Amino acid sequence: IKKAFIFDLDGVIVDTAKYHYLAWKKIADQLGIDFTHEHNELLKGVSRIRSLDIILDLGKIDATQEDKNKWLIQKNDDYLLYLVDMNQSEILPGVLPILKYLKEIKQPIALGSASKNARPILEKTDIISYFDAIVDGNDVTNAKPDPEVFLIAAQKLAISPENSIVFEDSIAGVQAANIGKMTSIGIGDPSTLYEAKYIFNDFTEITTQFVDTLIQEQS
Ligand code: G6P
Ligand code: MG
Repeated sequence: IKKAFIFDLDGVIVDTAKYHYLAWKKIADQLGIDFTHEHNELLKGVSRIRSLDIILDLGKIDATQEDKNKWLIQKNDDYLLYLVDMNQSEILPGVLPILKYLKEIKQPIALGSASKNARPILEKTDIISYFDAIVDGNDVTNAKPDPEVFLIAAQKLAISPENSIVFEDSIAGVQAANIGKMTSIGIGDPSTLYEAKYIFNDFTEITTQFVDTLIQEQS
């Protein structure tokens, strides 16, 4: 049996979620908006444009398109600075062994990320060759929790949504997988990701036996 193994990027494969947070926090501070880690959970998995709107809503700020564009550029420029020195050491613990195992047993692997910076990150961390399909923020029109990004990924792997497994660290992403009728695996805090079918604190808790179970599991 073949299952589609679809990975989110930020916060699942690499710890870039913290960089996104820092870059948004800077803008929120500039605008005098109180932006906490809890607020940040709502931004995870969400597109850049939508993220800015959520922050502006928090501060009840009504901005012009011109200002918004300026902040979107500032946020990404700032974020990109964190990626300059990125290398394989920033891959989160436990991820690489599972990617290797999936390759070994010939299960198809895809990336399903909202980020427009996904490809350079996969290149810098030297794992791009593991992915049979890459679907990112440049390929989708509907942001998570819309399942579009995962549905395209499954389609590219020629696997049905019911036979697809999604690893996600965001609430929006877990919801997207569930809406798409895929098996959702939350990576992170169980109290945040309780909607996921399975939840692990991080990838070191995911064993090859568990992967085997997922492959055998009836959808
Ligand atoms: C991921 C992250 C979000 C980020 C989004 C867009 O989903 O979890 O925090 O806003 O990608 O990323 P980008 O790199 O295109 O700004
Ligand atoms: Mg994520």
